[in-house]
Amino acid sequence: WPKDVGILAMEVYFPAQYVDQTDLEKYNNVEAGKYTEGLGQTHMGFCSVQEDINSLCLTVVQKLMERTQLPWDSVGRLEVGTETIIDKSKAVKTVLMELFQDSGNTDIEGIDTTNACYGGTASLFNAANWMESSSWDGRYAMVVCGDIAVYPNGNARPTGGAGAVAMLVGPKAPLVLERGLRSTHMENAYDFYKPNVASEYPLVDGKLSIQCYLRALDRCYTLYRQKIQKQWKQAGIDRPFTLDDLQFMIFHTPFCKMVQKSLARLMFNDFLSASSDTQNSLYKGLEAFRGLKLEDTYTNKDVDKAALKASLDMFNKKTKASLYLSTHNGNTYTSSLYGCLASLLCHHSAQDLAGSRIGAFSYGSGLAASFFSLRVSQDASPGSPLEKLVSSVSDLPKRLASRKRMSPEEFTEIMDQREQFFHKVNFSPPGDTNSLFPGTWYLERVDELYRRKYARRP
Ligand code: CAA
Repeated sequence: WPKDVGILAMEVYFPAQYVDQTDLEKYNNVEAGKYTEGLGQTHMGFCSVQEDINSLCLTVVQKLMERTQLPWDSVGRLEVGTETIIDKSKAVKTVLMELFQDSGNTDIEGIDTTNACYGGTASLFNAANWMESSSWDGRYAMVVCGDIAVYPNGNARPTGGAGAVAMLVGPKAPLVLERGLRSTHMENAYDFYKPNVASEYPLVDGKLSIQCYLRALDRCYTLYRQKIQKQWKQAGIDRPFTLDDLQFMIFHTPFCKMVQKSLARLMFNDFLSASSDTQNSLYKGLEAFRGLKLEDTYTNKDVDKAALKASLDMFNKKTKASLYLSTHNGNTYTSSLYGCLASLLCHHSAQDLAGSRIGAFSYGSGLAASFFSLRVSQDASPGSPLEKLVSSVSDLPKRLASRKRMSPEEFTEIMDQREQFFHKVNFSPPGDTNSLFPGTWYLERVDELYRRKYARRP
């Protein structure tokens, strides 16, 4: 099998406009700090009617191909993970073929995968599995994930966002998917779902969704630790795995505060499984919770607070940098975790990252979740694949800063417009294409048979 299959290159796309969460707090008449402190969100990106999931994915794929300068026929598999469904049959992948077919490359496996925010991870696993199977034909795989996260007026609306990430998957990668180290938890839950095909909005039980997320995290982390400890035992190492064995930890990020609580939760898992000597010496401030069962603590505010305090240093070292894009752009569902990965790379040098292990937790409501890890290559020398990958995402802060700030009134008007145009036929979306970033694909027209035509801003 090819060696070291993983992520070779990445491209991140987000819309060119945002609303400030402080402005939104005032506009929604909620207490100052509710969105910025309580949820940990400062800005939220959003799309006008000119953008849809197809245009987002066209843009990010085109940009990744331009950045890597690979020939279009070097890609043999293209996977799309999304939950932004505008057609119940025709895959986003088929629209992306527009980019490849001109070069004559129609021999590309892969199709869309959907389950809430988990589809990107399922696509990444599919791509890696293909490469490590007898079906692999020697070419690269590309994984595209993206979503437009919008909610009706109400307490979930500030947890929206929009964006897409494309990743080139291949052998000898600087970020290797560690073999045999994936754990999964899936169950039937109605925490967030989209039964209403006439609307872009999900039905959400916010409090239940948080409990489902944390339960899935506990289960996946327990299984991951068992799997890695088994591998270690075979190699003659007999000790428990803890968060200290992960130099970095990234999470699916519905809102940033949730992630800080999730890292605290992992530390709480380590605490509960440690010996009493270790509990006393390493986990100061948690002693009062000895003997509790994980499943009894999902709504325990004392555990929450104590674990947040005990894990603060760890959060600052292992996770905080990964929240940069999510803080400034919001939730992007399937691409959220991979935006966190790009943010982490953007805020560390190749030298800092070399040789480290990055833990990753992917969660999609409904529910599907996995915990896995990426091993960063040792070679951080100038021109190495790792150094190239790190420098390719270094412009994220500058690009985010170049977006246009819109007022909550303008944001609300555009959300109303999205409602109005959803499933409409025979129209050209209103708006000025010059407000998009250069090189962005946009929806030019929907004809009377719902066929969509796209164009690219020069
Ligand atoms: N200053 C500082 N903090 C404040 C504050 C203020 N003035 N006012 C409130 N807060 C805090 C609250 O104390 C609370 O923090 P704690 O949970 O630590 O106590 C936090 O702000 C949120 O406030 P509420 O508990 O009142 O929550 P809410 O009713 O506003 O709803 C939400 C929050 C449930 C997340 C809602 O926004 C929602 O439903 N979002 C969509 C669902 C979601 O994101 N779920 C996450 C898990 S599911 C998933 O991961 C899949 C996915 O991507 C959707």
